[in-house]
Amino acid sequence: MENTEELKRQREYIERLKGTVIRLKDSLSRTPKCAVVTFGCQMNARDSEKLAGILKEAGFALDGTESDADLVIYNTCSVRDNANQKVYGHLGSLKPLKKKNPGLKIAMCGCMMQEQSVIDNISRNYGFVDLVFGTHNIFKFAELLYRMYEESAGQIIDIWESTDDQVEDLPVERKYSYKSGVNIMYGCNNFCTYCIVPYVRGRERSRDAKEIVREIEKLSEDGVIEVMLLGQNVNSYGKGLDEDIDFSDLLKEVEKIDGIKRIRFMTSHPKDLSDKLIDTIASSEKICRHIHLPLQSGSDRILKAMNRHYTKESYLGLVRKIREAIPDIAITTDIIIGFPGETKEDVDDTIDVINKVEYDNAFTFIYSKRTGTPAASMADQVSEEFASEQFNRVLDAVRECASKRNGMLIGRVEEALVESISDNDPSMVTGRLSNNSMVHFKGDKQLIGSIVQVRLHTAGGFYYIGDMV
Ligand code: 5AD
Ligand code: SF4
Repeated sequence: MENTEELKRQREYIERLKGTVIRLKDSLSRTPKCAVVTFGCQMNARDSEKLAGILKEAGFALDGTESDADLVIYNTCSVRDNANQKVYGHLGSLKPLKKKNPGLKIAMCGCMMQEQSVIDNISRNYGFVDLVFGTHNIFKFAELLYRMYEESAGQIIDIWESTDDQVEDLPVERKYSYKSGVNIMYGCNNFCTYCIVPYVRGRERSRDAKEIVREIEKLSEDGVIEVMLLGQNVNSYGKGLDEDIDFSDLLKEVEKIDGIKRIRFMTSHPKDLSDKLIDTIASSEKICRHIHLPLQSGSDRILKAMNRHYTKESYLGLVRKIREAIPDIAITTDIIIGFPGETKEDVDDTIDVINKVEYDNAFTFIYSKRTGTPAASMADQVSEEFASEQFNRVLDAVRECASKRNGMLIGRVEEALVESISDNDPSMVTGRLSNNSMVHFKGDKQLIGSIVQVRLHTAGGFYYIGDMV
């Protein structure tokens, strides 16, 4: 439920923070700077835009870096252990800076903070961290920041186990003027046995369709033409809402918003992808020709142990249906290698799926043991050496397919949303095609944020070169 009382309270705290920033400005003789450092997925990227929105509204400058900011915020990820280790690395390098400049404030939030072992570690070994909050109370950021500056001498740790509250409509500072992520649901109920997300993001909660549409209408008035609907499993959108609505229905509502030209979504769980959704994408002018469909493994035995609720055959059947209905769609995936008990034969099955689907791209991960998940206590953990050998086999298969797929659009004229000046050539711009491929072509910065027609004439490894027509 959206909580308007809480929204009002947090807005009041933003007003109070403005006084704090004026005080800091006086003592520093300049505007205090902050750095919001983001790890992990698109959900976290969106959360960071919310943090930045509040900071900007309160008067902070957003252009700080970890080495010169007066306030550093780490928005953390815990999906794999190396994400956790990275954060500790960053934190370690801030310690000497904090010694030199006691006015430096350090805040931490995001998925890692929902792990008890992390909280124990921070309170025991990282006393120089000023503020810690979690995924369920991120909307309290203004209040917590105010308390950190004005009321507290020691470390503030505020972690909630769960929440039913949704506090939207606080200020947001978008990274891009022309595109935006939009949360349509929070949390996950799937409990894949390797995954920590259900524990750190809580149970699945869908937002009211009307609220989502209202948010997107406002974004559109503000110049946004592409939205990415975000959820851990968008295909189960609507469950638990009073209104009888599913993800396809929501997409159709979003499609009606005039100013929105492109709609993307992330992530689709294969077990919940309906025929209705395939039809909706196929008949849509605005839904992009790209679907991210995490496979995780191609072996039935491993899929069962992962609690994924589909088989190799049913996954391949689903892909066939999608390709029949939407022939030019790009399909990307996530794959985990080295799950407990995985053998070379299981990986052969994964590679077989890669070759049959011909993914446009795949994100491959070595299995990382996450404390508290069922897979962490499975007996037959595989060796690092085996996992990395198999990882390389999978990576080779992925590269081969991706390079086969990239280039399929050569000769065609496609719409591209121009995103930036090209990194390598200031006389070129970089745009994104509906299928999520990048294209470089001659153009200038005036084009950024607009959709143009581009003839694709050459393909590089993962991109096209073209000419605007
Ligand atoms: N180890 C490795 N990869 C993981 N993922 C999720 N949990 C783990 C884990 N414990 C991957 C999955 C998921 C992606 C976001 O991260 O492939 O789709
Ligand atoms: Fe994790 Fe599975 Fe939920 Fe994705 S669907 S967030 S992999 S538990």
